[in-house]
Amino acid sequence: MIFELTEEQQMIRDAAREFAQTALKPGVIERDDKELFPAEQIKKLGELGFLGMMVSPDYNGAGLDAVSYVLVMEELSKIDASASVVVSVNNSLVCSGLEKYGNAFQKDKYLKPLAAGTQIGAFCLSEPEAGSDASSQRTTAQDNGDHYELNGTKNWITNGNTASTYLVIAQTHPEKGHHGINAFIVEKGMEGFTVGSKEHKMGIRGSDTHSLHFSAVKVPKENRIGEDGFGFRFAMKTLEGGRIGIASQALGIASGAFELAVKYAKERITFGQPIASHQAIQFKLADMATEIEAARLLCLNAAWLKDQGQPYAQAASMAKLFASEVAMKTTIEAVQIHGGYGYVKEYHVERLMRDAKITQIYEGTSEIQRMVISREILR
Ligand code: CAA
Repeated sequence: MIFELTEEQQMIRDAAREFAQTALKPGVIERDDKELFPAEQIKKLGELGFLGMMVSPDYNGAGLDAVSYVLVMEELSKIDASASVVVSVNNSLVCSGLEKYGNAFQKDKYLKPLAAGTQIGAFCLSEPEAGSDASSQRTTAQDNGDHYELNGTKNWITNGNTASTYLVIAQTHPEKGHHGINAFIVEKGMEGFTVGSKEHKMGIRGSDTHSLHFSAVKVPKENRIGEDGFGFRFAMKTLEGGRIGIASQALGIASGAFELAVKYAKERITFGQPIASHQAIQFKLADMATEIEAARLLCLNAAWLKDQGQPYAQAASMAKLFASEVAMKTTIEAVQIHGGYGYVKEYHVERLMRDAKITQIYEGTSEIQRMVISREILR
């Protein structure tokens, strides 16, 4: 891996940092408190090209590399993980999936507005009884000749209500197991498709997470992604890239909490001196910084492998596993360093601690990442 960032990568990171400070930070506590989707901020992120970062300019994307994506995700997530999860899902699960596996018609009709950020996408794999065990899909897609008929329910879908385009995984040939699964592009407004209840979450409360219901939804044949039976592979391959996004989100949550902890430790006086002078705090900061740096290198390594066209599934899972655990540990320590102030909303670290938890759960729990890593090792 080359460790030095190019001038362009540094500029993109700085632009994301500036955006996070000026456009995401104001109101972040209120949005979390009231579960408000950051609609204005997401619109601006789209205008700046952050919603289709890695998509080719041929499809309205910014044509950037995965390393830049990691840098942007870290900066946005330092301030607002509810906004950065929208960026992550739209970029790596929806746009990247469509660009890599969609056909010309699908890219023209669906990818272009998603990459331009004029529409938002959702990735619909999880079900009430198919979370970690993703191949146990109960949603069915019956082949009716010129269309598929979709029936079932999806759960915990990020961008569930704000999305216009949904990539939906469903079972067409149950007798074939995961080889019978397909992926479809479903539009909001298709008859029989309804957005269900909103989840009230511990963290990332500004993102809109919903269940979705499909009742005899007619999906045109041309909206199937790839060959018949490609859906499970599509989901697995797409999630590889998604895990780099969530790893970088976890990294950002950790580094955001760390920066706040350092600032507070320099300002807060106890026993006649800043708490940063106490070795108990210094050792905590040293451990936090070391682990964050290791997480950052794992994220950049996975992204760099992806940019080189090399296999990166194991590296992405390692980055997600490690960075999400670092996010949890670091945010807990940041709250501890802040003492009583850390437990109240205006100091931000309690929110970052709540936000950190989801990074150990979505796009594959820590246990799933360990499965992926060990399978690669033992293969
Ligand atoms: N690339 C290509 N193919 C893959 C693959 C990959 N990364 N991983 C698996 N496959 C293929 C296998 O080769 C195999 O194919 P064959 O039968 O033809 O050989 C097939 O898929 C089945 O593989 P497994 O036997 O390994 O499958 P499994 O049922 O044991 O499951 C798993 C593997 C890794 C546990 C998978 O189920 C998984 O990733 N689960 C977690 C799901 C997940 O991450 N959900 C997140 C939802 S999205 C989300 O969270 C978005 C959001 O809101 C932010």
